[in-house]
Amino acid sequence: MPPSGVITVSPARAVRGRLRVPGDKSISHRYAILAGLAQGASDISNFAPGADCRSTVACLRQLGVDIAEPTDGALTIQGVGIGGLRAPARDLDAGNSGTTMRLMAGVVAGHPFTSRFVGDASLSRRPMRRVMDPLQQMGARLEAVDGHAPLTVHGGGLHGIAYLTPVPSAQIKSAVLLAGLHANGTTTVTEPAETRDHTERALRAFGGHAHVSGRTVQVAGGERLAGQRLEVPGDFSSAAFWLVAAAAIPGSRVEIEGVGLNPTRTHLLSVLRRFGAVVDVRPAKADGVGGEPQGTVVVEHARSERLVIGPDEVPALIDELPAIAALGAFGGEVTVSGAAELRVKESDRIAALVAGFRALGIDADEQPDGFTVHGSAGPRTTAARVADARGDHRMAMAFAIAALGSERPSTIDGADSVAISYPTFFETLEQLTAR
Ligand code: S3P
Repeated sequence: MPPSGVITVSPARAVRGRLRVPGDKSISHRYAILAGLAQGASDISNFAPGADCRSTVACLRQLGVDIAEPTDGALTIQGVGIGGLRAPARDLDAGNSGTTMRLMAGVVAGHPFTSRFVGDASLSRRPMRRVMDPLQQMGARLEAVDGHAPLTVHGGGLHGIAYLTPVPSAQIKSAVLLAGLHANGTTTVTEPAETRDHTERALRAFGGHAHVSGRTVQVAGGERLAGQRLEVPGDFSSAAFWLVAAAAIPGSRVEIEGVGLNPTRTHLLSVLRRFGAVVDVRPAKADGVGGEPQGTVVVEHARSERLVIGPDEVPALIDELPAIAALGAFGGEVTVSGAAELRVKESDRIAALVAGFRALGIDADEQPDGFTVHGSAGPRTTAARVADARGDHRMAMAFAIAALGSERPSTIDGADSVAISYPTFFETLEQLTAR
């Protein structure tokens, strides 16, 4: 890819093939963090290759965790035990990764030293009060600039709290639970809607406890975690782009093996069925050793129905909404509401999606809490223009999929942002597209 990250995507008659996707980003963050807090060594394989999880690894190293990388995608992490991190000598750089900054803020809040997190321009615009509030209630002292990074955490002396998260967010839940491992007494988090439960599963995988009752999770301070050997399943949110392409384009079929099938992540599959695709899910006989379900998913194009995604569905689709928007580019129509959270992701994803789709000649409207994409069946004849991914990996991938339905090549600016979660995305696109 050229250094500017400008890439040209050619139209495709169909997408066809069998593949694996890189290791799951959300699960990789958690395995690295909990391995760092465990006693003894952990071996983690199929670790997510993107820049976000590298940020978590770099922060852990600066906090005194020894992490070796014997082969590609494999990490050996020497855990320091809960409360065993040491004060960082420099700022902790979370790069573009909200998960790194928010989860690691919860971890260092439990340690009696000061840490300062910085991030790139995008992360420095994202809201941090949502983790500052509960961590302060637990007894840590946090400072930021009007609720934004740089984020300074003066940790130590935590006590458990019962916290109701104001927005459904696995990052808030996880930050509080990770702090809770270092607190006196028990910590409970209750969510307004279910979010991904990887932290709860990973805690159990490392020999800890997370008691779940409805939408409330409880952890106790003073746990002991033990090093493990774990394999990260493929990232369903990365797979989502190929599943959408296969559902949207006549004559398409993709089969994705070894992909995570955690039910808090896979609501897209029922959306694709509603859209009219043929979806076949073959779960592996046993869950992975980390307690994460995985298996094979096959999606084939059949029809293109109109889709309406409402607020109730948004938390279960939060990272798949850009891919779902691309579905609307191929006919049918996609309307999403109740998704204002998209405005505080790596970019303002509502504004970025609508502007990018229009640049590609696709009719789209913006609402305060969502968007509508009015697709047209058959190739789009509009002359290709440049869609700006605004440095957001999921925008770049959504535009690439939408561009497959154009009559002429389309250009995506900022395509290098795929390195955040899916560095080989454009190579795989090349392999899957029959032209
Ligand atoms: C994530 C939670 C979600 C998601 C993000 C990863 C996680 O963010 O969008 O990509 O790993 O916990 P929020 O917690 O802000 O909803």
